[in-house]
Amino acid sequence: MAIIAPSMLSSNFLNLEQDIQMVNNSDADWFHLDVMDGRFVPNITFGMPIIAAMKKSAKKPFDVHLMIVEPEKYFEAFAKAGADILTVHYEVSPHLHRNLQVIKSLGMKAGVAINPATPVSLLEDVLCDIDLVCVMSVNPGFGGQKFIDQTTHKLMVLKRMINDRGASTLIEVDGGVTLENAATIIKDGADVLVAGNTVFSAANPADAIKSLKEF
Ligand code: DX5
Ligand code: ZN
Repeated sequence: MAIIAPSMLSSNFLNLEQDIQMVNNSDADWFHLDVMDGRFVPNITFGMPIIAAMKKSAKKPFDVHLMIVEPEKYFEAFAKAGADILTVHYEVSPHLHRNLQVIKSLGMKAGVAINPATPVSLLEDVLCDIDLVCVMSVNPGFGGQKFIDQTTHKLMVLKRMINDRGASTLIEVDGGVTLENAATIIKDGADVLVAGNTVFSAANPADAIKSLKEF
């Protein structure tokens, strides 16, 4: 049974409260919050004030996915806003090890996200310091994209790397997760499924979460 993290990027921004309560009352485990800056990715979403506001109603951990350049400038602000897991992209972190240490020193779990073109082998030397690897199965920036099939191979390699080291790192898959491919993604090694479109475009989002949880 995987950890299910609905991506609020696909929620109704005109009525966030209603969607937060839906997640609170569902089988979901975390809230996945996508922060984009229009520089690292070609889209802009929301930042600390919205996350802090959501925190007042949310009853489950905040899994905050930073798709921004120079993420280290904002670690403290995201901790204050309510992030429980803070994920930075490998591609914007020349000092990844330092970033992981700072995130943890602020009381959060530390995640690293990798783009589809970034090989998992680049994480070898810091794997034991990472709480969660977010394997991007689409190019980051938008919800509702198609799952990139090559991700399957990356998941298997990453799973082997984690097992070989006896690490407790969680594998999260982000992008294009559907009711059709979720079972295979879990079988290939995913511990956490992010789902935006699959949850929020469903006629009954809580049912979609329940179905994902049952795989
Ligand atoms: C994409 C984001 C994802 C996105 C997933 O850049 O990181 O979290 O919301 O959306 P779906 O599940 O619709 O592909
Ligand atoms: Zn995400």
